[in-house]
Amino acid sequence: MDTKLPLNASEPFSSPNPLTRRKLLKRATTGLFGFSILLAGDAFFLEPNLLTLDRVSIPIHGLSAAFDGFVIAFIADIHYPCYMHAKFVHHAIAIANRHHPDLFVFGGDITDKKGSVTVPNMSGLFDHAEAKEGIIGVLGNHDHWLDAPGVRRELARHTPLRIIENESMIVERGGKALAIGGVGDHWEGIEDPSRAFLHVPPEVPRILVAHNPDLAEELDIPVRIDLQISGHMHGGQIYVPGYGGVLHPSRYGNKFCQGLVQGKSHRVYVTRGLYSSGHARLNCPPAVSLITLRTA
Ligand SMILES: [Fe+2]
Repeated sequence: MDTKLPLNASEPFSSPNPLTRRKLLKRATTGLFGFSILLAGDAFFLEPNLLTLDRVSIPIHGLSAAFDGFVIAFIADIHYPCYMHAKFVHHAIAIANRHHPDLFVFGGDITDKKGSVTVPNMSGLFDHAEAKEGIIGVLGNHDHWLDAPGVRRELARHTPLRIIENESMIVERGGKALAIGGVGDHWEGIEDPSRAFLHVPPEVPRILVAHNPDLAEELDIPVRIDLQISGHMHGGQIYVPGYGGVLHPSRYGNKFCQGLVQGKSHRVYVTRGLYSSGHARLNCPPAVSLITLRTA
């Protein structure tokens, strides 16, 4: 049966529940509010605890085949004990241990003045780190703001972590060598890469641990550095694609926010670190970095 609906051309069709501009605006506002709540929930409650493993392979010029596949477990910006539980640090170390690193490196800002008026007891904090070549690290600006001599003393007395400042260690394999150097903090310490590698033969590849990545842009003396590894930036903490991090305590804005970056004098790999300032991270979870060195 052909049923025709009456249609009056002079009267526009009206839905019993028309979507007016006001309703549309209300729905958009509600949607935006819900989305903001989700983002805030992620930023404040989820991501700061979402520890990730970042793996990167970096070719090093002149690296002997004996060191091809040398793995550095790199963790920075612990800021212990400011909002940082020992459990979280142990978890980060356990993640790295699973990959049997050759060397454990801690990239500074191990401690923090906030939440701690004196140097915290760090016995047991790094005991689980397992690496054939040992556990080394540098200090960062926050270690200085708390008490750098006290932090050095506490680490030396109660932990296996050896601080290297303007000095280096040589790893030897099959008659070949690799130098790992460390420098003092860029803002608060004495940062002297030439002193760090003073006794290293020029043909030996060098990895430099420096808390602040800005050194890669400001080194004004010719020192061979094949790779610098740094923290300090927290990855920018709130990471906007196409823009970069919102937090960037660097003279170069977002340039050294995170990942492998070519500096003016040499390359630098920047890890996102563990701690989250203001306990907020978005699109930028805390990270343990696993750096595999490759022959170039
Ligand atoms: Fe820092």
